Amino acid sequence: MSVPIALSGAAEVLRLPDDELLRLPQSRAEELTLEPGDVVLDGELIAGFEADASCVQINCGGCAVVPGFVDCHTHLPFTGWRAEEYALKVAGTPYAEITRRGGGIHASAEALAKASNEQVLRQSHALAEEMLRHGTTTLECKSGYGLTVQGELRALQLADQLLRELPQDGSVTALLAHAVPEGCTATAWMDEVERMLDAVAADSHANALDIFVESFAYSNADLTRMGRLARERGWTLRAHVEQLSTQGSVPVAIAAGARSVDHLSCMPVDDVAALAQSDCAAVLLPGAEFIGNEHAAPGRELADGGAVCVLATDLNPGTAPIVSMPLVAGLAVRRYNWTVKEALLAMTLNAAWVLGRSAEIGALSPGRRADVLLFDGPVSHLPYRFGHNPVAAVIIGGRPVWVREDHAWRFKEVEK
Ligand code: NIG
Ligand code: FE
Repeated sequence: MSVPIALSGAAEVLRLPDDELLRLPQSRAEELTLEPGDVVLDGELIAGFEADASCVQINCGGCAVVPGFVDCHTHLPFTGWRAEEYALKVAGTPYAEITRRGGGIHASAEALAKASNEQVLRQSHALAEEMLRHGTTTLECKSGYGLTVQGELRALQLADQLLRELPQDGSVTALLAHAVPEGCTATAWMDEVERMLDAVAADSHANALDIFVESFAYSNADLTRMGRLARERGWTLRAHVEQLSTQGSVPVAIAAGARSVDHLSCMPVDDVAALAQSDCAAVLLPGAEFIGNEHAAPGRELADGGAVCVLATDLNPGTAPIVSMPLVAGLAVRRYNWTVKEALLAMTLNAAWVLGRSAEIGALSPGRRADVLLFDGPVSHLPYRFGHNPVAAVIIGGRPVWVREDHAWRFKEVEK
């Protein structure tokens, strides 16, 4: 039998106003509580908030204790980087132009096709390890750099293998309509997507479909079609929309049954009310906004309007070579005029909801999995000490999987 572990004497413990909640509109973020206290872990799960003499104690004096971060939008696995494109962007060349010259998604697809599985997994493992040290305990992986039927299936299998091998858990999204493959039309590729779904279902654990709607990628009609395909399989629909130009995709995605609309930098504020009233979350990616010098998504309006808001890294070699959720929180607070509780809600419970996992993870509540972070100071420092990584320890399923050296003394009683 395992001995319960008490994270005791924390300066702040982030808790939900109601332990049963599966998501919370951003307008209610201030109802999260941040009181001093203990969190008791029993085996893999959170057991409660009262430490007693039977517990192994971990002294959390001076620390904040928060749920593990859920990064629900990444493009792992991929291989290589595209730093030369960043230099072009900074010098003023737009992403669409870089894509037209054969860069962008096509360049990463070519690199993936050339790389061995070992190469792809080695880089992806290193990135996932960096994510872990920044507090990411659950992550989403996407395909999307395959751009052929075999290539997409391989990317999905690599994503499955990566998740099997990591200390973190996660889920896999088939981003089957990302760039339009060379020599193909968007409609012809969507026909191919429809034909490959049996193989996707048979050969991978993907449980969501995704699409990139943009002037030089896929259309709102393709988004509607992807929604039908997801519905027929009982899969979730995700959608990259309103990133670089306004396509009016938010109402289309809602009608298509999307679980989330991601990016939203060019989303008209007139669409905020419909999104807030729908069952679709707004996944904001301020790291991609920053790197791409994009407009800021209407984060304050979405929060005030009562939308379920989410933050993620969008980790990919083009628009967001970013692993750090703390950095994303810092950007979000400044760009969207959010509070730190709004940022934390968007990185935990609401992000878990997008992955359909919020009954198990995303909050410090009894019965949920013990995915817990210790911060080296109060949560107010998360956005304020911009660029500093506040994560002092990462616990997954009740097990400390990473502890920063200067905090190792707290864990001397606990077996790693
Ligand atoms: O989420 N917008 C489309 N897809 C990615 C970028 C992929 C890339 O540039 O490699 C994104 O930003
Ligand atoms: Fe993305």
